[in-house]
Amino acid sequence: MRTTFFVLFILMFSLFVVTLTSYTQEAPEVSERGKEVYEESCAHCHGIEGRGDGSAAENLLPRPRDFTGGVYKIRSTESGELPTDQDLFDIITNGMPGSSMPEWESALSADDRWELVAYIKTFYSGFQELKESETLPRLINLTGKVKYSQESVEIGKVLYTELGCIECHGNVGRGDGTSAPTLVDSWDYRTWPANLSQGWNYRGGSTTEDIFKRFIGGIAGSPMPAFEGDTFYHFGLTPEESKRAVELENKEEITPEDEAEYAKYSEKMENAIDAALDRAEGTELTPEAQKIYDDAMKVVYEKSWHLANYVKSLSPEKRPEYAIGNNVLRSQYKEGDLPTFDDAEWETLESSYYPLVGQVIVEPRQFNPTIDSVNVKSFYNDTEVAFLFTWDDRTNNTSVEETENFGQSFIDGLAIQFPVKVPKGPTDEKPYFLWGGRKPVYLWQWMASEPETIKELTAKGMSNAGLQEDQGNVQAESEYKEGQYRLWVKRALKTEDKKDLQIEPAVFVPIAFSAWDGANGDIDTKRAITSWYTFVLEPVPSSRRFIYPPLVALLSLGLLVGLRQFVQRKNT
Ligand code: HEC
Ligand code: HEC
Repeated sequence: MRTTFFVLFILMFSLFVVTLTSYTQEAPEVSERGKEVYEESCAHCHGIEGRGDGSAAENLLPRPRDFTGGVYKIRSTESGELPTDQDLFDIITNGMPGSSMPEWESALSADDRWELVAYIKTFYSGFQELKESETLPRLINLTGKVKYSQESVEIGKVLYTELGCIECHGNVGRGDGTSAPTLVDSWDYRTWPANLSQGWNYRGGSTTEDIFKRFIGGIAGSPMPAFEGDTFYHFGLTPEESKRAVELENKEEITPEDEAEYAKYSEKMENAIDAALDRAEGTELTPEAQKIYDDAMKVVYEKSWHLANYVKSLSPEKRPEYAIGNNVLRSQYKEGDLPTFDDAEWETLESSYYPLVGQVIVEPRQFNPTIDSVNVKSFYNDTEVAFLFTWDDRTNNTSVEETENFGQSFIDGLAIQFPVKVPKGPTDEKPYFLWGGRKPVYLWQWMASEPETIKELTAKGMSNAGLQEDQGNVQAESEYKEGQYRLWVKRALKTEDKKDLQIEPAVFVPIAFSAWDGANGDIDTKRAITSWYTFVLEPVPSSRRFIYPPLVALLSLGLLVGLRQFVQRKNT
């Protein structure tokens, strides 16, 4: 009995080791097939010779990668190292969300994806040299993972400020830090810090392991700093020593004992940095230096797991469901006045989520939109309807400006589009989704100018829009805070203007949105858009609204009468 158990254990253990070792698979030898698939599926972006200069490349930001430089963002390897074959296979399989690099899992077989790994490696000689030197790139050490907990998130939050993440990624991670509008990548193109509240747009995945690897290994080619010994705050000190060092650094009067104590910490830090730099240069470390390095890294890894847990906490688990099907925007009925801009009552509603894409049909086009989506809530009463729109934008642009390096920036804005006349049924044609055509659309166009404006327009096409004569039917109020706009809009359900949409309960109305990020060069047709979605004033069941109150009154009356009779009978 005991032996069978032991054999079973050995079997399971070897299985475990086999899965562990086969995790980093290697690409096959280069073949004609790899070249064929590459030229068919990849070359129009990455170029026939892998220089990132395919015919489609010019309009894209970030640019398709130039494979001849050996620069790879998404790696399981340390800063300065090449990716493993498995890393390349994974990125081809999954694509790079938030960029134009598509996923290939659905279009290419796993065999073809492995052939591609072998083929793209031929564009950079470093891969061959690595193979000849019979060394492997250094893998990021994933042991010692700190499990996700509120406590760990709190520690990570402090580190997020301490390590300067905030300068690019902003206070709550929406990518709106003070450096955000100034960043360029290694190829001199403009780049933006990731919006950490949108995990679905991370290039390399949003698990805590993914985040940890991006932080330790860096995102090569981007301005995001990679971990290097000398860039880490108090590298070489334990958390207790670091805390004490801060106290000493902030002390007004320093005694000779303080000085001696601080010198001890300084020396420790210097030794650790030396060890890290030697290691990075490829120098073999003495056992003593190795120990210093390992001890220092233990602290770094632990802190980085806390940081990864904090970053993870900034984003919902999944991208929200699109506002289609059962998720259509349902305006909720409310008796009496509608909630104003700051009213806490908005918190009681769920948002409907509308993903935006770049407008690429009409010139000028937007191939690289920066606004992911707009979230909408709505209430109505017997006479009016109110909406609350929120959307993330890394910069608050209220006027046209000349920027230092990126040409002009324009004014941020949002437009809400309806048909002038509601289609009679699902088969009745809607106006063309790009601001109408033969059938006109009715628009509310809000601009972040100072003071903000909201205008009513009628349009029969992108270049055929005009202000309505009768303005002032819509009211707006807004706020920009920490990388996010919040816009409140209100209108009467019925207006006198024939060119306005008239809004009625229980009627399904097409609705669409456009958003402009001025800092991204958005103006006129260059913007982010949605196609048609649906909006409805959620009908109030007539029974509840008109029959319930009298019924309740009647019932309570009956109860009262009954109670009185009961009491009277008792008394007599
Ligand atoms: C529509 C254009 C487009 C096509 C087609 C395309 N890519 Fe890409 N690819 C990109 C862009 C853009 C990037 C850079 C994204 C970034 O830097 O964030 C990229 C990056 C990459 C990277 C670098 C990953 C990293 O970690 O930095 C690899 C590898 C890659 N692509 C492989 C492929 C392969 C293989 C194909 C064909 C099967 C392909 N791409 C097809 C646009 C494209
Ligand atoms: C100098 C500006 C800068 C600083 C400082 C910075 N980042 Fe970034 N970060 C960026 C940029 C730019 C990107 C987008 C990289 C890309 O996709 O090319 C990014 C992307 C990311 C991503 C998304 C990774 C992915 O897979 O797309 C995470 C997570 C992240 N940063 C976390 C951090 C943390 C944590 C810190 C602090 C330790 C930090 N960043 C500091 C600029 C910065």
